[in-house]
Amino acid sequence: MAIILDGKSLAKKIRQQLKSEVNQFVEKGLRNPSLAVILVGNDPASEVYVKNKRKACEEVGINSLYIHLSEDTPEEELLRIIDKLNKDEDVDGILVQLPLPKHIDTQKVITSISPEKDVDGFHPENVGKLSTGMKDGIIPCTPLGIWILLKEYGIETFKKDVVIVGASNIVGKPMGLLFLRNEEATVTICHKNTKDLRKYTEEADILVVAVGKPNLITADMVKRDVVVVDVGINRLEDGRLVGDTDFENIKEKAFAITPVPGGVGPMTVASLLINTVSVYRQKFGYPKHPLTDV
Ligand code: GUN
Repeated sequence: MAIILDGKSLAKKIRQQLKSEVNQFVEKGLRNPSLAVILVGNDPASEVYVKNKRKACEEVGINSLYIHLSEDTPEEELLRIIDKLNKDEDVDGILVQLPLPKHIDTQKVITSISPEKDVDGFHPENVGKLSTGMKDGIIPCTPLGIWILLKEYGIETFKKDVVIVGASNIVGKPMGLLFLRNEEATVTICHKNTKDLRKYTEEADILVVAVGKPNLITADMVKRDVVVVDVGINRLEDGRLVGDTDFENIKEKAFAITPVPGGVGPMTVASLLINTVSVYRQKFGYPKHPLTDV
């Protein structure tokens, strides 16, 4: 039976730690950290994610400024709002929940966020810093959360064969870059056009799956003692929430596995808080947050 990588309890521990750190800054006379969260439209999943993020902010003492815009908001209006937030000294971080409505150019919006306030780490400047090994950029929340979770459980990453399924800008690609940094691990990134997925998953020491398809990875597709990180969040017809992997069967074969829910999801939110506190610290002349030092 595999070790269950309990993201829920680690995220809780991190929130408690951040709360006491924020308290100390406030006792010194600094204002609270602040995060602007922008949601365009009414996608139900996005509304849940945004609600979770704001609740977590509140718990640790980060003021969240919520800007909920209608589905038909023109791109120019969104860009104007971001420009104002970029210039606002009292706003530390800016997060635009994705996906955006089709009439809005996502990459243009991401690029309009000031890189110093880009707590999602999606701005090309932060992506470039991650890819070139510069340590002063912001690392996207899901890869950062996964890294912190693996390290908490002492999972060795050096010289491992890491296989990532899903090549998104949000998870797959930055996750690959993080494992590649300092020539740490050997990374293969698979995606929907990969000819023979099994050929790669079977060889993985660490398998990260971020596709959004229930049961995409079954127990026969992984080797014994693999470490499985399941980023998928899928709602089945019967209401159950499942990941992209066959958790019940893989847990009998793997060395460690993340559950869904309670694995990667809470760590992603915790990393958003870490990135926000880190940006805030630097604004007031302190070094970046040690948890971002991966
Ligand atoms: N949509 C799905 N994941 C994310 C994320 O990490 N950040 C933002 N902004 N939108 C998302």
